[in-house]
Amino acid sequence: MNSTPGGYELTFADAVVAAPPYPGPWPGLDRGRFLSLDRNESTRPPAAPVRDAIRAYVDGVHAYPVGDDLTRDLAGYCAVPPGCVLPTSGSSQGIQLVLRALLPPGGTLLTATPGFPFYGHTAAVLGAEVHGVPFAEDLTFPYGPFADAAAGTRPDVIVVINPNNPTGSAVDVEFLDALAAEYRHVPVVIDEAYAEYTGVTCIPLIARRPNVIVLRSFSKAFAMAGLRLGYVVAAEPVVTQLAKLRNPTDVNALALVAGRAHLRHLDGMRRHVHETLHVAKPVLTDFLHERGVRHWPGPANFVVVDPGPAPGATDHLRGRGILVRPLVSPPAAGFLRITVGTPQEMGMVRDAYAAFLAGVPAVRR
Ligand SMILES: Cc1ncc(COP(=O)(O)O)c(C=O)c1O
Repeated sequence: MNSTPGGYELTFADAVVAAPPYPGPWPGLDRGRFLSLDRNESTRPPAAPVRDAIRAYVDGVHAYPVGDDLTRDLAGYCAVPPGCVLPTSGSSQGIQLVLRALLPPGGTLLTATPGFPFYGHTAAVLGAEVHGVPFAEDLTFPYGPFADAAAGTRPDVIVVINPNNPTGSAVDVEFLDALAAEYRHVPVVIDEAYAEYTGVTCIPLIARRPNVIVLRSFSKAFAMAGLRLGYVVAAEPVVTQLAKLRNPTDVNALALVAGRAHLRHLDGMRRHVHETLHVAKPVLTDFLHERGVRHWPGPANFVVVDPGPAPGATDHLRGRGILVRPLVSPPAAGFLRITVGTPQEMGMVRDAYAAFLAGVPAVRR
């Protein structure tokens, strides 16, 4: 439908009209009434130095933001020259910039599935195809099939999320290095939204593989999803082209000051990561282990749970005020993804899941 009511006509690109709205569960839900463990965001307020920096800057929001200082700080954090860094309004904007620049209409994006849905959505509105290679049944990265698909489909863009959302699967950097070397005329996008949890990064590859483009986010370990900050790390000529596709003021001033405050106080983020992985996550995974519930702890701030032949876990948890993400695509269809919050919040999930199991007839477990 390329028209609007009332006698006015607007012609949208066919691919935009054909694309479904961006998927999001529970539209219209009053999230304030729930513990949100369905979006891999932090459940904590910002650390004190970050909050202070935001408060101190509030009077400055009348002016357009200037991102040069943050770019420099990020370059230091990533150990690359400033010309290799492009701050973005969330890493979602990085995804859009890269695909708009490098994925032509009718082109093919190769990725492992299920992955972060914004890639497929952006490809669809650009009129491109996604060639998805399913993760293995045990949710490990499908190395062989992915390499075969890269050879067979001649993709325009390769995307690997490391570690992957929603499966939590980690991918060997050596494999990504070899992939980038073999397909040197194809952009190899490595999404590292969860890199602070793993300490694993492909950024050092960029110096010798200028087709590698790394996307990062402040929405996860830095607990800033609401401020929308991400960045691209790539070879300087790549950043030069991507920068043309956005307005230099796209990253808002409060995100810039909060990002800089975080980078000056990295110990705060590191403490948060440590508590998430080593205190809060085991509250849930130890329980699941004891109760024989198949699950994948993964290396990041979420756990994948296979409720087995016991449907209704998502609804049960929601009935107890906890939102978790139901997964719908094979090989994870029917599984849940639970974001790791505080140790107390994980205790609430444990208790709610125990009540769920208590209501599941033994024969169905
Ligand atoms: C793998 C991955 N990439 C990108 C994003 C988007 O992050 P941002 O909030 O920075 O746009 C997410 C968010 O869940 C994600 O899981």
